[in-house]
Amino acid sequence: MSALFEPCTLRSLTIPNRVWMAPMCQYSAEAFGPDAGVPGDWHFTHCAARAAGGTGLILVEATAVSPEGRISPADLGIWNDTQAQGFRRITAFLESQGTVPGIQLAHAGRKASTDRPWNGGAPVGPEDHGWRPLGPSPIPFDERYAVPDELTGEQITERAFRGRRPPRTGRRLPGGGDPRRPRLSDR
Ligand SMILES: Cc1cc2nc3c(=O)[nH]c(=O)nc-3n(C[C@H](O)[C@H](O)[C@H](O)COP(=O)(O)O)c2cc1C
Repeated sequence: MSALFEPCTLRSLTIPNRVWMAPMCQYSAEAFGPDAGVPGDWHFTHCAARAAGGTGLILVEATAVSPEGRISPADLGIWNDTQAQGFRRITAFLESQGTVPGIQLAHAGRKASTDRPWNGGAPVGPEDHGWRPLGPSPIPFDERYAVPDELTGEQITERAFRGRRPPRTGRRLPGGGDPRRPRLSDR
């Protein structure tokens, strides 16, 4: 018999079924200004609609831990309280539906500062709200990309993990509930 609709327990976390939503970047946040990186109506609806359908676990799209860690200027972020408030609205609704909220914390490194995929995904400069990417070496991702500013190991820990070691790091998921272990992206 299928276990699809059976609960699944991972350590202290019980997920009501095995229908889970993978993180899916929407590239639909404000690119600059006070609402940069803040989840809005689009992000709410994207997650809320699936929660209303009974999805057991929803992993919110790759969300940058710092402004320069965004894949594109239109990515979600979780480096300030305005963004945290936007996530609270999502997590509150998901939990009201019995869905477990999760999030993919991300830093795009040398692949940061690119255009939305439907615009071609090429690197963007400051004139398009882009920035110089950061990386573990001064080697660009490919010949189209900017040479990244090289970070030391210590700087990587500081910037990507706010000075704490992964995986027990970052902000608690806004909206209460248990802190979830972040899914560390390999993108
Ligand atoms: C629109 C879209 C956005 C995606 N964004 C992310 C993302 O933010 N983070 C990530 O790790 N994978 C992302 N992916 C990959 C998916 O999470 C998933 O791993 C991929 O679709 C393969 O899943 P499947 O084998 O069930 O089709 C994205 C995929 C799609 C279609």
